[in-house]
Amino acid sequence: MAHPGGRHFLQIPGPTNVPDRVLRAIDSPTIDHRGPEFAKLAREVLVGIRKVFKTANPVIIFPSSGTGAWEAALVNTLSPGDRILMYETGWFASLWRGIADKHGLRVEILPGDWRHGVDPAAIEEKLAADKEHSIKAVCAVHNETSTGVASRIQEVRAAIDRARHPALFLVDTISSLGSIDYRHDEWKVDVTVGGSQKGLMLPPGLSFNALSPKALAAAKTAKLHRSYWEWEPMLQANESGFFPYTPATNLLYGLREALRMLDEEGLENVFRRHRRHGEATRRAVRAWGLELNAVDEREHSDSLTAIRMPAGQDADKLRAVILERFDMSLGQGLGKLKGKLFRIGHLGAFNDLTLAGTLAGVEMGLKLAHVPFSPGGVVAALDHLASTSS
Ligand SMILES: Cc1ncc(COP(=O)(O)O)c(C=O)c1O
Repeated sequence: MAHPGGRHFLQIPGPTNVPDRVLRAIDSPTIDHRGPEFAKLAREVLVGIRKVFKTANPVIIFPSSGTGAWEAALVNTLSPGDRILMYETGWFASLWRGIADKHGLRVEILPGDWRHGVDPAAIEEKLAADKEHSIKAVCAVHNETSTGVASRIQEVRAAIDRARHPALFLVDTISSLGSIDYRHDEWKVDVTVGGSQKGLMLPPGLSFNALSPKALAAAKTAKLHRSYWEWEPMLQANESGFFPYTPATNLLYGLREALRMLDEEGLENVFRRHRRHGEATRRAVRAWGLELNAVDEREHSDSLTAIRMPAGQDADKLRAVILERFDMSLGQGLGKLKGKLFRIGHLGAFNDLTLAGTLAGVEMGLKLAHVPFSPGGVVAALDHLASTSS
């Protein structure tokens, strides 16, 4: 398409479409980050963000992509040689493991098939066998963006409790925060990792660590090297509304606006909206006769859907046709899933008609790319949207 009219459809599972309100907020003069006006802004977002994590404890805001917040979660709480338990839910769990390896942590990663979430029973078994409590942390990715699988974090917490194990619990919510229900305090998570570019509807560039008192205590004795990612100077400076180094001022304007939008809609309504869109998308996939990558119904992600291609069909070719003909970007298969599946992002600033347009683009693309499928997915999704609209 040489000159596409209208808006590009950015339906990858993050970065997501940034609402005009947020773009307008970012488009403001950059102010003195050591002045009184900045302190007011910082205090507002530092308190406001707690609501999204469902925590009464401090949340750190880094000027970085999510990868930085992954590293921060590890280096602030652990020491060289510490044993940690991870679960291979997919590409992103594997990347987090890579950071742990580079820092000299002894990682035990429970193997997964990239179609299921963290198995709470497997975690319980490992922890119960660790009588000397040599495992210092359990790390889990809540919503595995590469597979469209959402792990049952509350059940993993219950498994850790049943094993009566004191390990820290570190959870990545980069593609679930602000779109799928998540409760940092209630689920006794010690560090929750977040990012700006998905459910929070911001551009990439901010990342988060929500903390627990246990995580703060661990930071006092943790020996891994840290400087940029160190929580302590952040917490100290944040108390008076400042940062130890130059913050991403304009993204914080955007964050303030995004938090207002989430507040106006109400977080529970935001989750409900994502559940409807997740379910409508899955109905479309089934009607097309295609296969969802997520196997267990309890683990279907409501922020994205990963769809497996029929044998012999290339997902990247389909995505290229859809981009070329309909100006829509869809998520690619990552790592060993390259070419085998594509991913539809339905999170962030997203409504019924955005989903209708997205699914229409996929259905037309399937036809044009000669992928064997049954028409009718869009109709199945619209039926669900209409019957659950209130
Ligand atoms: C679940 C998850 N964790 C971590 C990351 C890495 O974040 P970033 O690419 O912002 O560094 C991503 C990115 O998409 C993700 O989806």
